[in-house]
Amino acid sequence: MDLDEVIEGLELLKPWIPEKARKAIIASQILSGNDAYERVRPLADVVRAIIIASGKGIASLPESEELEGEIYLGDVMLGELKLGEFRLKRDDLIKGVTIFAPSGHGKTNLIMQFLLELSRLNIPFTVFDFKQDYRHLIRKIPNLVVLKVEWLRCNLLDPPPNVNRFEWLMEVANLLPYSWGFFHWGTGSYLTDMLMEAFNQKEDLTLFDIYELVKQDDITSRRKADWHDVLESRLSSTLRTLGKVIATKKGYPIYKLLKLPLVIELYNLREADAKLIVSWFLAYELHYRRANRHRGKLYHVNVIDEYHRVVSRQHEWSEMTKEMGDSIIERQAREFRDFGEAGIYAFQEISRIHHSVIENSELKICGNLSSWEDIEVAANSMNLKEEEVRTLDHLQVGEWLVKRRGGSAFILRTPLIELRKDLGDEELQELMKDWIAEISSYDRERIILSEEEVAALQVLSRYPFASKSTLYELLNGLGRLERRVKALRLLIKKGLVREEKVFVYSTRPTEFLIPTEKGLSFMKASGIEIKVWEKVLKSTKQGHGFKHACIIYHAWRELNKLGRAWMEHRVGEKQLDVFAVINGIKLGVEVYVNPKVDWKKLSTALRALDLLVIVSYDAKVHERVKNEVMQVGSLLEKIIFYTSPPPFFKDLKRGLPFLYQIRWKMPEIR
Ligand SMILES: Nc1ncnc2c1ncn2[C@@H]1O[C@H](COP(=O)(O)OP(=O)(O)OP(=O)(O)O)[C@@H](O)[C@H]1O
Ligand SMILES: [Mg+2]
Repeated sequence: MDLDEVIEGLELLKPWIPEKARKAIIASQILSGNDAYERVRPLADVVRAIIIASGKGIASLPESEELEGEIYLGDVMLGELKLGEFRLKRDDLIKGVTIFAPSGHGKTNLIMQFLLELSRLNIPFTVFDFKQDYRHLIRKIPNLVVLKVEWLRCNLLDPPPNVNRFEWLMEVANLLPYSWGFFHWGTGSYLTDMLMEAFNQKEDLTLFDIYELVKQDDITSRRKADWHDVLESRLSSTLRTLGKVIATKKGYPIYKLLKLPLVIELYNLREADAKLIVSWFLAYELHYRRANRHRGKLYHVNVIDEYHRVVSRQHEWSEMTKEMGDSIIERQAREFRDFGEAGIYAFQEISRIHHSVIENSELKICGNLSSWEDIEVAANSMNLKEEEVRTLDHLQVGEWLVKRRGGSAFILRTPLIELRKDLGDEELQELMKDWIAEISSYDRERIILSEEEVAALQVLSRYPFASKSTLYELLNGLGRLERRVKALRLLIKKGLVREEKVFVYSTRPTEFLIPTEKGLSFMKASGIEIKVWEKVLKSTKQGHGFKHACIIYHAWRELNKLGRAWMEHRVGEKQLDVFAVINGIKLGVEVYVNPKVDWKKLSTALRALDLLVIVSYDAKVHERVKNEVMQVGSLLEKIIFYTSPPPFFKDLKRGLPFLYQIRWKMPEIR
């Protein structure tokens, strides 16, 4: 008997004949020529015939002990023949599971099978659900808790129990840049500075405090200004969508959630915000387990379907990664198992996932991959033989090629979970109402507004550049003046609105009201439209704050009464604050709150204009602006300077008297 044939035949009988016995057969074959194989050969022939008949090729068959464990996942198949059941050991689960297959192959269904088993075994889990798939499992797991992310009231800056506050803030300083995708070390370290400053100033911090600090920070250099702008805009947009969720003082403690069978719905979140939530939970778990010496057994399972949404391969090679070290996502793949935190991750394209995540997973479950690139990466990372790779192509929906590290690859068929997918938002809210109430009871600073205050916010939401006195007029539907004054005063006191004084029409400053981040996040949550403000605040970030935007808005309004005017209009290479055409005269207006002038660009605009009005915010700014502007040379004669806004607005009201005088004048100061 040919020895190769014996080895090949015994390989087919792995599920039935233990390894020791197979070795004994081979040994006796070699040593004594005793044909022990003959006795099992008919069985091997049957198995081979089944494989050929199935036309699917063959994965190597698993040893019987590889199939033993607590977590039932489905049946091991040989063609249409069921060889046995596959149960995963808890310990293997701790070491990580990755599932990769194209859309519609059954990843979500397989994860549900996992969850049914975890729930049967009372193992807590957290599913991060981007597609509202898992809420329906409540029909099969009655104690399942399903929370929309917006129902959470937690505090990102609260450390887990027994974790040092400083250490935790450093972790936050590390995870925020990853979630937000700062591709610059400078912004990251600027954030760290801000967190440290806040740490020294007060306890009970929230991200709202950090945002206020950043806003008030003096910008000393150009470089710092860039970091500042990036950080400020990230903080503000995140706080606007997730304000209460991540920045509730003394919020709901996350470790309580880790004891539940839990689904957190991240439906409709922007990628950066979803990443923030996921990395926050993961970092929290790591610090929590470590500080509380949780080790040596399985405590909790993280489940991330659509994993590519939180970790992508681009990260791996980015400058940021080189400069800042590993993200929590990578550390998770390596460190979590030590602390009894398991992970099940599913995604479509293996070639786009950070390789350490795949390398570090103990069990890999692979579906019918479509691209060559994916097949190659999968084959490498699973260490597949050629004939095993060929089986990939034959896998049907719900069938998988499964391999443990160092184990054999076999084919698994998972059961289809019959589930009605009809759980709507209202029913969910009703089912979860106790949880929602419990969590929001932690939000001690619940903002409750009177009818007048809400009305005031509604008016403010529509008229960003209306002065305080104009707002009082707009609110006259509310009755007596005292009531209107009181409503606005209370909004300021509650921190939803702040005042800013701007010199516009008169030598006494005009008062304006601006919603704070807290205010915007509240307005958004209560259905008040904030688009107008988002636009204003976005443009003020690029420019020079609210003052600048406010002055150019009013200049635009007044100029429109005299002719036609446009805000932020490009002339030559210059984006002019206001451009107007009045009686055929082309007029530009530039407002300087900071003395930052690009005179070269300005001169390209000057060539196309008849007249440029430069309005500085005060005499000091004017001196510096003028020095810069001098460099435009002979074009200077087209410029009229104002040392502050009030005289300019006075002239505007009078119809810009200089327009009616001679067109070309010597530069003059008014
Ligand atoms: N084990 C199975 N047996 C039979 N049919 C299945 C099985 N698993 C899934 N299916 C079928 O395939 C469909 C898609 O499954 P599922 O939603 O789990 O795929 P998916 O891989 O998560 O897809 P996507 O990447 O688009 O989320 C299911 O609606 C179901 O009809
Ligand atoms: Mg899915």
